[in-house]
Amino acid sequence: MAKLLAAFLLCTLAWGADPDWWRNAVIYEIYPRSFADTNGDGIGDLNGITAHLDYLKDLGVDAIWITPFYPSPQVDFGYDISDYRGIDPQYGTMDDFDRLMREATKRGIKVINDLVLNHTSDQHPWFKDSQSSRTSKRADWYVWRDPDAKGNPPNNWQSIFGHSAWQWNQTRKQFYYHAFYKEQPDLNWRNRAVRDAMYDVMRFWMDKGVAGFRLDAVPSLFEDQQLRDEPYVEGTDAYGERKVSREYTDNLPEVHDVLRELRRVTNEYPGRVLVGETYLPDAVELAKMYGKNRDELHLPMDMQLGFINRLSVPEFRRRLTEAETQLNGNVPLFAFDNHDNPRSVDRYGDGLHDELIQKIIATLLLTPKATALLYYGEELGMRTNTPTRVEDVRDPIGRAGWPQEKGRDGERTPMQWNNDTNAGFGGTHKPWLPVGPNYKTVNVAGESKESNSLLNYYKALIKLRKQNEQLRNGDFVMTNEKNMSILSYVRITRNGQAVVVAMNFTGEPQMMGLDLASRGVKGKHLKTLVASFGVAEHSELGHIMLPPYGSYVGQVEQ
Ligand code: NOJ
Repeated sequence: MAKLLAAFLLCTLAWGADPDWWRNAVIYEIYPRSFADTNGDGIGDLNGITAHLDYLKDLGVDAIWITPFYPSPQVDFGYDISDYRGIDPQYGTMDDFDRLMREATKRGIKVINDLVLNHTSDQHPWFKDSQSSRTSKRADWYVWRDPDAKGNPPNNWQSIFGHSAWQWNQTRKQFYYHAFYKEQPDLNWRNRAVRDAMYDVMRFWMDKGVAGFRLDAVPSLFEDQQLRDEPYVEGTDAYGERKVSREYTDNLPEVHDVLRELRRVTNEYPGRVLVGETYLPDAVELAKMYGKNRDELHLPMDMQLGFINRLSVPEFRRRLTEAETQLNGNVPLFAFDNHDNPRSVDRYGDGLHDELIQKIIATLLLTPKATALLYYGEELGMRTNTPTRVEDVRDPIGRAGWPQEKGRDGERTPMQWNNDTNAGFGGTHKPWLPVGPNYKTVNVAGESKESNSLLNYYKALIKLRKQNEQLRNGDFVMTNEKNMSILSYVRITRNGQAVVVAMNFTGEPQMMGLDLASRGVKGKHLKTLVASFGVAEHSELGHIMLPPYGSYVGQVEQ
């Protein structure tokens, strides 16, 4: 009874206020292995997250997405799940998880779990049963196929992590399909029992109070039933194989049937949200992920904007405009960083103005009409620390693809809390990956005290985005669309109030003027709200000066 009451109170606290909380939210991605280690084994844990919730509250995040912490052989560091309803002992216990939920809820922070739908670990009991015989209870839960006439794999499909996507199984005398590592067999989503089992997993976690799921590898769920060979494309991949396209293994229309079912299950619980890992070719495909009737994902990730990988005003303008105009009025989810890609500072920085460029990225992430996804350490300026020797690499793709593919260790280094031993990640025990070399100056403790730090810039923008009516609810209007040096836009509310955002993408000072009268905006003066450079508190709409790589956010006033 007491437990039920506690669950009820938790739900009321978390969802009562606003089931649409995710629309303006800042979601913070945590790679639990690398966030904070409380038991001194060199690996981060759930208690480490709980211990730092006050930091996250102070930063202003609305929700945390924690990458998989379920029992796993850790071949893909948790993305190979062997039990969807447990906690890997490396990360703690279910009691630790429940405490994390309670403490997060107390602070108004929601918890989003990672859900790996496409595949399980080969150590999952479902797969063990499936591989035991062609007639076992779960024989058809994975994608099994006979060899071709010569005993070879049924077709030329390649794993995203290198080499054939088919793995031979001696017991069944068949191949199974794996889009990722061979230890991650693909589930057969054409099988109703698989779907129902996964939906029950979702209910299990939603009953515990999680705010929803980040769905892994959404476009990979289905493969062509006729097993057609993929066309070859030019070149050789990092693993020495001829490159193939992914026409028959990626983004098949059947994905949308499953997304609609996932949404129906999610709708059984108020206020829960589906975030999708959706690497897609363009905005048209991204738009489909929301569903024709807004009945699929709430927030498929927009991977177009954050991964342009060069500071180009026209390209950013184009991607922002597409997100604004082509997603049928749905909320975009922007992200610049995650645990699978070199950190944005290393993709956009020029080595000279990196902190200012990071502030541009923060501005781009937090001022458009979009939900924002932030990756731990991005707010500090943590950098990619790519291994220099193959023997140091932990991520298997880095070992298999060395030196062309060095793996993803570089973007997964321990969170930099302070300038003590191991950056305060967890005492003196050697962390599972080396701490980034810039931790002496790039860390939470130091940056909290510096008024101009990147961390304080993020905090100021997040706070502003919550308090300022234009940034919360204003329309997004691109301005000065011919300018090749400055990217600028305004956020305008119906009453004619406006906030101007302008960023100088060049190494020279730039000046621009704006006339917003035709948009119904009254006033010619600007009150500075947040800027990455020293600036007078007031300036003129017709004359905005931006130093090299300067970012500016200001309120139009009469
Ligand atoms: C995407 C995840 O983000 C990545 O880390 C993982 O390796 C693959 N999906 C496979 O689950």
